[in-house]
Amino acid sequence: MTSSNTQTPDNPKKIIFSAIQPSGTITLGNYLGALQNWITLQDDYRCIFALADLHTITVRQDPPKFRRNVLEAYALLLSCGIDLEKSIFFIQSHVHTHAELAWILNCYTQFGELSRMTQFKDKSLRHADNINVGLFAYPSLMAADILLYQADLVPVGADQKQHLELARDIASRFNGAYSPTFTIPDPYIPKTGARIMSLQDPLKKMSKSDDNANAYLSLLDSPDDIVRKLKRAVTDSDGSVAYADGKDGINNLMRIYSCITGRSFEQIETDFSGKGYGDFKAAVAEALIEHLRPIQERFHMLVQDKAYLESCYSKCAQDALHLSGRTLKKVMKKIGFVL
Ligand code: TYM
Repeated sequence: MTSSNTQTPDNPKKIIFSAIQPSGTITLGNYLGALQNWITLQDDYRCIFALADLHTITVRQDPPKFRRNVLEAYALLLSCGIDLEKSIFFIQSHVHTHAELAWILNCYTQFGELSRMTQFKDKSLRHADNINVGLFAYPSLMAADILLYQADLVPVGADQKQHLELARDIASRFNGAYSPTFTIPDPYIPKTGARIMSLQDPLKKMSKSDDNANAYLSLLDSPDDIVRKLKRAVTDSDGSVAYADGKDGINNLMRIYSCITGRSFEQIETDFSGKGYGDFKAAVAEALIEHLRPIQERFHMLVQDKAYLESCYSKCAQDALHLSGRTLKKVMKKIGFVL
């Protein structure tokens, strides 16, 4: 079957770009909000993915741990199903065009725009002792990541929507000031997994930086951890497995279960009618354990093979440099740099 995005001479494949920070644990929120879409979109789009390690140093990192996190995240994302026969998957700091275009875009981004970013406001509160310029200018680096590849679509969770809108504004501004240079990217946000919430406070986003490890599920959690964290997940006192206003904890577990099993909310309600939260939590845990088992097995093999990983990320960095270099050159020429 061919889809509208299948490449033909008159219908080149649309381009997808997305990235994730290798800042330690990769959570179920990252997976359901973004990674699952990355994997499925690979068949129909030209996909380019990155580990956004330049973004990660906006928060102070321990050097050996940072190095290990990057390599493990690379192995884990391959294990989730990034297919290098179809996609490019590189480490951002290996491709110098990102930092270069980010600087240029800083000069086309207003201080007021960056001040309005909710992630900057949140992170400034959490890291009050290190509100560095990188944290502030983070969205223009993110815009550079996307615009360098002329991306049509950017699969992300809902928390990145504001950054993406800014990337679109920066691109339009540049195109308007010179001539069409950048493709204006559209967000690609999943219906059900866009915002997976904390298991301990379902009004808060599930985040790897949560102080309470029971609040998030990691893709590498053991079956015991998964069962325990789900048992402790905060729910309400109503007791019926139904998606409804005010049942934020159960709604969140239903979203997770729906993303993993493909069952609709109505089907879940029918499957669990007359059963309690204990049964439902056990079913969510079992589905997750089975879903993550092959990913974890592949990860434990791949992460040992440093030479293979290096061959993958080196080749992908070359490909990414080639593609992004063309855009950077175009941009610099338009601005008037002597090339
Ligand atoms: P990061 O590393 O925080 O998250 C990676 C992806 O996971 C999504 N996500 C979630 N989705 C649903 N529920 C959650 N609880 C949840 N938590 C995280 C995020 O929306 C994201 O899609 N700035 C980006 C990385 C980045 C990027 C880019 C993304 C750098 N350059 C260019 C797209 C395009 C970030 O910090 O994501």
